[in-house]
Amino acid sequence: MRWRHFIILQVIILLVVAGLVYKHQDKAKLIKTPPVELAKWYKPENKRQVWLHNMFKLRREMQAVEFYAQQQDAEHMQMWTKQLAEHYLKIADMVPAWQKKLTINTMEDLKFASEQQDFSSVLIKHKALQQSCDSCHDDYQAITALTYRTPDFSNIQITPELSFVDHMDTLTRQVNQIKISAQDGNKSLALSSLAGLNDEMITLGETCVDCHKKDRKPYPSEVMKQTLNSLKTSLESGTAKQQGRDLGTLAVLACARCHGTHRIAYGAKKHLAKDVSFSDLIKH
Ligand code: HEC
Ligand code: HEC
Ligand code: HEC
Repeated sequence: MRWRHFIILQVIILLVVAGLVYKHQDKAKLIKTPPVELAKWYKPENKRQVWLHNMFKLRREMQAVEFYAQQQDAEHMQMWTKQLAEHYLKIADMVPAWQKKLTINTMEDLKFASEQQDFSSVLIKHKALQQSCDSCHDDYQAITALTYRTPDFSNIQITPELSFVDHMDTLTRQVNQIKISAQDGNKSLALSSLAGLNDEMITLGETCVDCHKKDRKPYPSEVMKQTLNSLKTSLESGTAKQQGRDLGTLAVLACARCHGTHRIAYGAKKHLAKDVSFSDLIKH
């Protein structure tokens, strides 16, 4: 009798929890996060992007195995299958927690079929193995790239006293001050704010080379400089319409383009990295 009560109580708790989760599923999302051991295979903990390069090898080897099985070229097929098996098993060497995501049997079957020169069987096993790739990717690919490959601005300082995000605040205030002063006819303040913005953009540009060493991103670029000049002219003698157009163009070129890449991705990454406390979860 007591057991029955216990079980009924368990069922009720389960239903309540399920109900709560269901009710709030539009407000909270559950995301599977990749094992932390992965960090070892990415910069900066590693000199190279080892994990990613293993993945590129796997894709190439999958393509080669399929190609040579179709061509019925046993020698090359076997060579590539051997490498494929090696790099597939390396996944679990690198991240032991992902051992269970591998279909070792399928890999063994593929190797066996290849040794037997059973081309049609190789193609069938190849397809099955691809599903194992896809299933891990569905869960983890995007989130891993976001976690380990998104450029991180948390350590970037403009000066030892001025953080990156505080500098962003300065920039946006200057942009708005130009707009406010131009609209209210305070030409000299609009122009001095523009000069200030110009200087602060040059300062910001010095941080780009930290990461953009090879693909240099001059900031401000030539088009941005032209737009800054054009805005200066329209603030001095142009119409409100011209001023608005130049300022809008500048904001797109000098702010929105970079935000489209860096702010969105970094913002999502920051969110992921934030530890969610149990009370936060309950509150949701
Ligand atoms: C246990 C999980 C797992 C398995 C199994 C797996 N992968 Fe991946 N793969 C990942 C993760 C995580 C990423 C994301 C890495 C990144 O973007 O930094 C990835 C990324 C990739 C990429 C890079 C995609 C791109 O263009 O950026 C390729 C190619 C790839 N995997 C191929 C394969 C192939 C082929 C297989 C099967 C033979 C496979 N993977 C099996 C986890 C896995
Ligand atoms: C923390 C390193 C880092 C810093 C600092 C950085 N970037 Fe990037 N940026 C990258 C990486 C890496 C990429 C490649 C795309 C990716 O992985 O998101 C990129 C891509 C971009 C892109 C989009 C792709 C392209 O080549 O057009 C733009 C635009 C860009 N960066 C502009 C800038 C500007 C402007 C600055 C300085 C104000 C800057 N970045 C500072 C790392 C950085
Ligand atoms: C590297 C390319 C890059 C360029 C160029 C850039 N930003 Fe940003 N901006 C960022 C990133 C990254 C963040 C997020 C920083 C963070 O959350 O720590 C950000 C955040 C901001 C914020 C939010 C600050 C806050 O308090 O959360 C504002 C406002 C802003 N930028 C304004 C501007 C303006 C105005 C310009 C153009 C004059 C500009 N940004 C140019 C990358 C850039």
